[in-house]
Amino acid sequence: MSGNGSSVEILLDMADLIRPNAVRAAAALKLADHLADRPMTAGELAERTGTHEGMLGRLLRYLVDLGILAADDAGRYTVAELGEPLRRDHPQSVGQYLSAEGLFGRIELGLVGLLHSVRTGEPCHAAVFGRDYWDEINNDPAFVPALEAEGNQRIAWDAELIIEAYDWSRARRVLDVGGNNGTLLIELLTRHPHLHGTVLDLPNLARIAQRRIEEAGLAERAGAVAASFFDPLPTGYDVYLLSGILGDWNDERSIAILRNCAEAAGPEGRVLLADIHLQVPASAPNAARLELFLAASMPRPSRTVDELRELGRRAGLRVTWEGPSTPVRSLLELAPAETAPADAGAAREPAHA
Ligand SMILES: C[S@@+](CC[C@H](N)C(=O)[O-])C[C@H]1O[C@@H](n2cnc3c(N)ncnc32)[C@H](O)[C@@H]1O
Repeated sequence: MSGNGSSVEILLDMADLIRPNAVRAAAALKLADHLADRPMTAGELAERTGTHEGMLGRLLRYLVDLGILAADDAGRYTVAELGEPLRRDHPQSVGQYLSAEGLFGRIELGLVGLLHSVRTGEPCHAAVFGRDYWDEINNDPAFVPALEAEGNQRIAWDAELIIEAYDWSRARRVLDVGGNNGTLLIELLTRHPHLHGTVLDLPNLARIAQRRIEEAGLAERAGAVAASFFDPLPTGYDVYLLSGILGDWNDERSIAILRNCAEAAGPEGRVLLADIHLQVPASAPNAARLELFLAASMPRPSRTVDELRELGRRAGLRVTWEGPSTPVRSLLELAPAETAPADAGAAREPAHA
């Protein structure tokens, strides 16, 4: 195709897919880290990275064109200044973040399906990779290193509220539904020593959570199970915690999760809905881009508390306590509608067993 003016060139440049993929492949293969040891030829690097020498050679030459690598006359490659932050030990490293096999990188690669999202309103990951994002990174062992490297090591998104604002004194057993790598449950059990708990998540994260719980010295009070919250959940817990879960699911799927929690909780148990609200301020730089990105990656990045109440109602639950909220986090305690006391909606105390 021949460009006949700057607009054409700009559009072609904007639509380019090979450049971002080359950078993300370089990041995934840790080329900048390997080349930090010494200059290497394509053959040496192919051996080091277990890649196809011919294709890697083409990638390396293109990375030189982009100014990320440099090459000498003997065909040996080094990292150029621009490529330095791809090194994992760089103080502002973006190597893991940009990796095609990283957690964030994988979300970005799913955006190839943006057209599907625009047509249907659904997130695009499953349309591109055949299954939803969480399912993919939890069932493919290739993502375990990324889950280890990028997983939360500290509670985030005002999760302090869950630990501090809820009255845990009347609960003994908590199931952290979609509890990820166990960070929140570990903090919760450390701060409330009478509590026992279990992380329920898909296989890769459940395994990581179990190991981290043991490393935290909490094996006697906690553990992790691999299961889906779309299947019936284990019974016998006082509190079924849903922290930052529903944003990834449309109303129908969210109601299914809430119903499963309610069924397992039974009349005495409670569902603690601690949802996260991801809002892009209109004044934020790149606000339109960010909103598009969020909506294409997760169906409901932000529901209002009233919308959450309504979801609960449709799942056969009523609010028994509303906690304090922050701009990014809210807290609602829910119980099966038919078993909640008539005046519980106005109660300010958690009403679990
Ligand atoms: C946004 S993260 C929230 C993690 C954690 N609760 C927190 O507050 O940081 C969503 C979690 O739901 C888990 N998840 C996704 N689909 C799931 C399913 N079908 N069953 C169980 N867990 C699932 C993911 O693996 C991930 O850990």
